[in-house]
Amino acid sequence: MNRKYIFAAFAVAAAAVTLITAGCKSIEDEPAAAVNADVTMTSLTTMEKLTEALSETDTELAEYKDEINGTAESAVPYEPAVSAGGDTEPSETSADSEIEARNEAANVESISLTFYSVTLEAGQSKMPIVTMFPENASDKSELWESSNPSVASVNELGNITALSEGSCTVKVTSAQNPEVFAEVEVTVTAGAQITYIDGILVVNKTYALPAGYNPGVNSEAQDAFDRMQSDAAAEDINIYISSGFRSYDYQAGLYQRYVDKDGKAEADRYSARAGHSEHQTGLAFDLNSIDDSFADTKEGKWVSRNCHRYGFIIRYPADKEDITGYKWEPWHIRYLGEETAQAVYDSGLCLEEYLGITSEYAD
Ligand code: DAL
Ligand code: ZN
Repeated sequence: MNRKYIFAAFAVAAAAVTLITAGCKSIEDEPAAAVNADVTMTSLTTMEKLTEALSETDTELAEYKDEINGTAESAVPYEPAVSAGGDTEPSETSADSEIEARNEAANVESISLTFYSVTLEAGQSKMPIVTMFPENASDKSELWESSNPSVASVNELGNITALSEGSCTVKVTSAQNPEVFAEVEVTVTAGAQITYIDGILVVNKTYALPAGYNPGVNSEAQDAFDRMQSDAAAEDINIYISSGFRSYDYQAGLYQRYVDKDGKAEADRYSARAGHSEHQTGLAFDLNSIDDSFADTKEGKWVSRNCHRYGFIIRYPADKEDITGYKWEPWHIRYLGEETAQAVYDSGLCLEEYLGITSEYAD
């Protein structure tokens, strides 16, 4: 199967999970304690559903792994051994030797993995890609086991799922040659806890979200934005969302790209580490152009003057980097609900000042 279709299958599975989680009750509707308990369950349920959805694509995944390992039927076409026949020795071409090499039944001699140690938060999954050598081994089937399935489980494809705090070893053995194996050292951390302060979901450099927290865009925030966009349009102001909900994994990749581009110290001034982005709450939106010049556009000015009336605040105001932990972002708005947004706006404080909290990474 074409790899493109495999990724498409994953996209469908991921979309299914997003739809499932989007269907969950809005976190804004719940009292803090109940939400905390519910969120933990939601994360696990989501993981279960993701696992379920992924199992539907197991066949494609298996084919993908076969393709990588060269065990797919099409990867190494069988060529019948050429018999010399008679007493004339044919001259051996390199093509002949290749065919001969392929037809020799080889045993698996070694296994390499794309990683040998991994740290995951409970609820996260990761799968190493396996390569078995030599390339012409006749059977590259894998057998997977975890030394402690209550810490991290592993399925028949090698997808490792972190379940509870601790360490264990996940081992892949060649089914053909059980003496050959490779191991992944797995460390599972408890992960972050969701924090509500005065009923507000707080995410900054001090307060993180669990990796498995994946609510999608918040429908109440989306509705508020839609109303704001429509009222703005009536005044010939064109505002649109350029970045909304971002998953933990998406943010991890985005942050890493900025680190690669500008170095860690600079990236930390404008991009959140995975688990620390408000975009993972589904309550934050970047509007129009993510550039300081947005503030001088008629759209930027309109948003700055009006967004609190729709329940949003400009989350990272100018001259507050020491307090929010981030440079000025005139385009990043955070939904708090109309009453709280109005109160924060009237106070002239940033959210950290308003709540009396810090925004600092531990390391
Ligand atoms: N740019 C903000 C800080 C984020 O990455 O969430
Ligand atoms: Zn943003």
